[in-house]
Amino acid sequence: MSKVYVFDHPLIQHKLTYIRDKHTGTKEFRELVEEVATLMAFEITRDLPLQEVEIETPVSKAKAKVIAGKKLGIIPILRAGIGMVDGILKLIPAAKVGHIGLYRDPETLKPVEYYVKLPTDVEERDFIVVDPMLATGGSAAEAIHALKKRGAKNIKFMCLIAAPEGVEAVQQAHPDVDIYIAALDEKLNDHGYIVPGLGDAGDRLFGTK
Ligand code: URA
Repeated sequence: MSKVYVFDHPLIQHKLTYIRDKHTGTKEFRELVEEVATLMAFEITRDLPLQEVEIETPVSKAKAKVIAGKKLGIIPILRAGIGMVDGILKLIPAAKVGHIGLYRDPETLKPVEYYVKLPTDVEERDFIVVDPMLATGGSAAEAIHALKKRGAKNIKFMCLIAAPEGVEAVQQAHPDVDIYIAALDEKLNDHGYIVPGLGDAGDRLFGTK
């Protein structure tokens, strides 16, 4: 079974409180989501492999470490996932960004792909799929499936807030995909919103209703 990591660093928790607050406006909400994504990217890249290089400091020759050229891809699930991308790219500027768009089939209520655009070398990259909210887990599981069926092997899923139902659904569907979250909330309500959550992440990011 995959692992679930809760990044409860004080800075993340502090910023998340203002993200949740309904009085926080679009501009600040967007900035805070980006900042939390940066902080989470710092933690999620903890296992990146390093390699030794030789450099010269002003004082002497030295052996030092740099990241071993790992190829990474960030995959936001449209549309709210877009709000996390720039924050991650601040720390991993060379990462490629793909996009996955899903809609809910009105009859089956299952998520269906309507847009998938990925880096060409999918088999060689490690991927971080991002979406601020992990609610039922349907979209996350389908997005991961869309990536796997195109050849991706190593995938992590990162979100701000998860419901227990969503975590379980992704773990069941993809036991090889670790999940990284800033907060695990109580439950889903009858409308599929996470409680207490933050409302509709897409609407709050883009100022729509
Ligand atoms: N998507 C959201 O934006 N918010 C929720 O609470 C659940 C899904």
